[in-house]
Formats: sequence, structure tokens, C-alpha cells
Amino acid sequence: MRVAVIVPAAGSGHRFGAGDKLASDFGGRPVLLRSVEPFTKRDEVDAIIVAGPPDDLESFRDRYGAPLGFLGGTVVEGGRRDRWETVLRALEAVPEGCTHVAIHDGARPLLDDELVDRVFEAGRTRAAVIPGVPLRDTLKKCGAELFEAAERDATVDAILGLDDDGAAGDILGGEDDGESQAPPPGHQVAAREVQETVSRESLYRVQTPQLFEIELLRRAYAQSDLEGATDDAMLVERLGEPVTLVEGDERNLKITTQQDLEIARALGGIRGDGGRPSHKRF
Ligand code: CTP
Ligand code: MG
Repeated sequence: MRVAVIVPAAGSGHRFGAGDKLASDFGGRPVLLRSVEPFTKRDEVDAIIVAGPPDDLESFRDRYGAPLGFLGGTVVEGGRRDRWETVLRALEAVPEGCTHVAIHDGARPLLDDELVDRVFEAGRTRAAVIPGVPLRDTLKKCGAELFEAAERDATVDAILGLDDDGAAGDILGGEDDGESQAPPPGHQVAAREVQETVSRESLYRVQTPQLFEIELLRRAYAQSDLEGATDDAMLVERLGEPVTLVEGDERNLKITTQQDLEIARALGGIRGDGGRPSHKRF
């Protein structure tokens, strides 16, 4: 098995908000390099192709070109809008002789060697392999409409000892000076109507790396309609070809929001300010 690794890193990080999630510090190195590192020491890996943002490729190269080169990686131009566009472009850079392609999000810095082992081992006998973890929570389908669930209610006000202006009275120990006050913090609660409970049986949250025989992946990406694909396996499924799920890793989370970064740092024992792991702090 000769593997080319594609790392999509061309997203705009919209849901992350201010800052660049892939450049965020993750224990002395950026999230993106952490996501690449597990592949650099593997014998099966022949190439690591990191696809950066088309509108900002020069600064992406300035930032990552040298450290990625050191890790054996190359930078190519990704797609502007969707992840699948990025993978489609990066596929052109897969060198001759590769039998498989592994695709791993640049925003998953907690990938560990055991998970790569599982995916690569399964890839020796299966043409498309993805890691996933079973859902544990109860699932509810909800209406799209948002409403306010904490509108002031006379009964609740009476229990809380609020007077007509919402000022706290004796029960909360507040001073009632007769002037109107803002509602207590947390008074507004956005809510939705629950429609039904959805069975979680047989449902998995899937992760990357996803591994494919190269011919199968090329065929999947040669389909005329790639719209709506949120992972690579989905395009293989559209061909009607089988996809195999192996045990993923709860820690291998994708950094989407600022909170995900905090959680990932906590899981990795990493301080938020670029310092050493917390267990080596002293
Ligand atoms: N990605 C990509 N090209 C795109 C869109 C996404 O290479 N056109 C990459 C991201 O850089 C990330 C991975 O795909 O490493 C997973 O995508 P996601 O977590 O959705 O990241 P973003 O698209 O950057 O974030 P958002 O959707 O919040 O804008
Ligand atoms: Mg996205």
C-alpha cells in the first residue's frame, strides 16, 4: 500500500469567528501542522498534499511552506467554497505509484497513531475505510422556528419576588427603589419545539482520516454532481460502492468553533497561550 495523504486546509473558518483556526497555537505548533504530523512517520506514506486557500495562498505558503516541506509535505491550491472542490484539486497532485489516498481534515489536531493504524490496516482489505464513533445522546428532531421561552410570567415573577418593573424585592434581597431595572441576566432563552425522538441505533459520527483505493476515489470524484458532499465517503456511496466504518476516537474532534479549540486543548493537555503542556509546567 502506497498512500498519498490529502489535507484540506482551504476553508475560511467561518464558524470559528475571529482568528485563523488552523494557525491557532496547539502546544507550540499550529493546529494544521499537528494534524499533518501523524502521517509524517509512516512508511506507507509517499506524499502529503496540503491544500490551502486560493485567495490567500501566498501567505499560506509563507506561513507553512517551510515547516511542511520539512515534514515532507507540499502545498497546493484548494477550492474556494466547498471542501470537495479542495479535494478534487488536490487529487491532481497525487504522484504516480500511489495505490491509496487518505484524506484528513487540517482542523483535526488530536489524531493519534492508533487510529491511523486502524484505518490503514482495514484499508489493506477494504476499498473505502472511514472512522466513526457511535452516538450516545438521545436525538430529537426539532422545528426550525426559534421562540423566546423565558418571557416574563406573572407566576414566576411572584415566586422570584419581582415587582411590576422586574425589580427584585425582598425574597432576592434586592433593594426596591421603585425604579425599573433590566431583567436579570439569562432571562432570555431561545427555544424550539421538539417534534420527535429519532432512534440513534446504528448512527455514527464520522471522522477523518478516510482512506480509499485511488481508482475508487478518482471515480467518485469524476461524478458529474459533487454538490452537497460533506465528506469523501459520501461520494463513494453515491457510486453505490461499499464503505467500511472502523472504530474512531472520541478525542479526534474537528475544530469548528472557538469552544472546540478550548476542548481540544484541554484533551491534549495544552495551555491556551502557546506554553508547554500543563503537566510539564513546572
Ligand atoms: N476545507 C477546505 N476547503 C474548503 C472548505 C473546507 O479545504 N473549501 C477544509 C477546512 O480547512 C478544514 C476541513 O476542510 O480543515 C473541514 O472543514 P470545516 O471544519 O468546515 O472548516 P471551514 O470550512 O474552514 O470552517 P467553516 O465551515 O466554519 O467556514
Ligand atoms: Mg466548512
